[in-house]
Amino acid sequence: MDAAVSHDGAGSDLEREVARRRTFAIISHPDAGKTTLTEKLLLLGGAIHLAGQVKARGERRRTRSDWMSIEQQRGISVSTAVMRFDYDGHAFNLLDTPGHEDFSEDTYRTLTAVDAAIMVLDAANGIETQTRKLFEVCRLRDIPIVTFINKIDREGQDAFQLLDEIQETLALDATPMSWPVGMGGILQGMYDLAGRRFLPYARHGEHPEPVQAEPAEIAERLPADQAEQFLEEAELVQEACPAFDAEAFRAGTMTPVFFGSALKEFGVEELLWNLGRMAPPPRTQPAEPAPVEPTNQKVSGFVFKVQANMDPNHRDRVAYFRLCSGRFERGMKLKQPRTGKTTAVHNPIMFFAQDRDLAEEAWPGDILGIPNHGTLRVGDTLSERSDLRFTGIPNFAPEILRRVRLADPMRAKHLQRALTDLAEEGVTQVFRPVVDSSYIVGVVGQLQLDVLAQRIETEYKVQARFEPSPFDTCRWVTADDEDELQRFIDRNRSAIAEDRDGAPVYMARNFFDLNRIQEENPKIRFSATRER
Ligand code: G4P
Repeated sequence: MDAAVSHDGAGSDLEREVARRRTFAIISHPDAGKTTLTEKLLLLGGAIHLAGQVKARGERRRTRSDWMSIEQQRGISVSTAVMRFDYDGHAFNLLDTPGHEDFSEDTYRTLTAVDAAIMVLDAANGIETQTRKLFEVCRLRDIPIVTFINKIDREGQDAFQLLDEIQETLALDATPMSWPVGMGGILQGMYDLAGRRFLPYARHGEHPEPVQAEPAEIAERLPADQAEQFLEEAELVQEACPAFDAEAFRAGTMTPVFFGSALKEFGVEELLWNLGRMAPPPRTQPAEPAPVEPTNQKVSGFVFKVQANMDPNHRDRVAYFRLCSGRFERGMKLKQPRTGKTTAVHNPIMFFAQDRDLAEEAWPGDILGIPNHGTLRVGDTLSERSDLRFTGIPNFAPEILRRVRLADPMRAKHLQRALTDLAEEGVTQVFRPVVDSSYIVGVVGQLQLDVLAQRIETEYKVQARFEPSPFDTCRWVTADDEDELQRFIDRNRSAIAEDRDGAPVYMARNFFDLNRIQEENPKIRFSATRER
């Protein structure tokens, strides 16, 4: 049987490497401090040596026009899309998720490739819209979440209030692992509840070493009013908050909460140390015909992101491949069940903060960049087996649909090439109505449309306009009875299009139209996502 793990040398190497891998993403609302935290984690992991290297990118991203120029210098965002670093015996893979909300679909897919997430909250703002959306995706996949409440060097909400908010708005049990002693101007430090240590905070310079002490001893060192408050809170935390439960955490129903300041490098090392200890190693991945254990010796994995045209002079792409099982070696031949072809992976890339290297080997949980000429798509499985297909990598129904008009009809082939190439990156979707030969592009947000227009022009030298389409949204249609589906398609031809895989889609004029058609056709399933 495939799942069997031999206990010879290779098997135990595999088990050891799997056990020390931690593959995670950071989810947050813009400005909560994701970039700053990423930088501090990379500094701790020795992956960068100078503060400011990651941050510059976060700032430049913020404005729309700057973001587009960043897109043109593709190298920057690519080399940092995945970051490998080691800390305390663990091998971490940090996957970057695009910050702008318009790129949520790309973000969602990236989350299919992680085993845990850090949710960063701004202590003053608590849970914000984007945090909630991203959290919901994590919940769909039961991804364990570690919470980091950032910016305690500034005035924030009361810590209990923040815990309540997590509990109430996310329906997630929150259990504090550390407790801030004061915040903002009166921040004195943090109490490590499990380790019974006090971590003093220094406003300027290095933070002093932690001291092992019970709350009562710490209280003696504090100003009277803060001492009283701290003792009360420490007692209340122990009485009122549930103890950390590893099983509930791994099931995604409980989050351990850490406090700190990414900017002041306070509480960040504790966060990373605990992430190594708490976060799970690579998970068993849902697949057909059966889920795949990471210790399965046959190499397998899936593509969750494709980045095209990084170098405008070459039509190259990099497929981001999450290794799910086995020990990968450079040059290995892997099968691609979608096409039935075999690909020899000669130049796999491993990403570090600023460099990329040829990967001689990789283990489950690692992310490889596989250069290719368009053969690999988002959702593709690659494995040593020919019958395997990973499941659960979703396509989302776009919220903006536009008809594409070409300025010069002679460039029709180029347009087709551009639209399919860019759709293969998985950022935009392309549909062809069955009744005419136009193209309709679908995006999740307006910014993607601007980027699409700009890239079609600069990378493919095609001038295209996006015109309003009569449709507002769309749904993939399926039915248990194929004849039933065909009858539905025939009856509604003017509103049917095909996605790039030929799957039928119903294009709705508006939500009333969508509701009506759903009510009239109870045997047809209308899905806002399509699994690949
Ligand atoms: P993002 O990636 O989540 O969007 O956030 P980013 O790290 O870029 O941080 C957003 C802003 O919050 C930055 O300020 C950053 O310096 C600040 N920040 C991050 N962590 C902390 C923290 O722990 N404490 C405090 N006080 N501020 C923090 P900015 O004004 O936009 O940039 P800058 O002028 O400070 O460079």
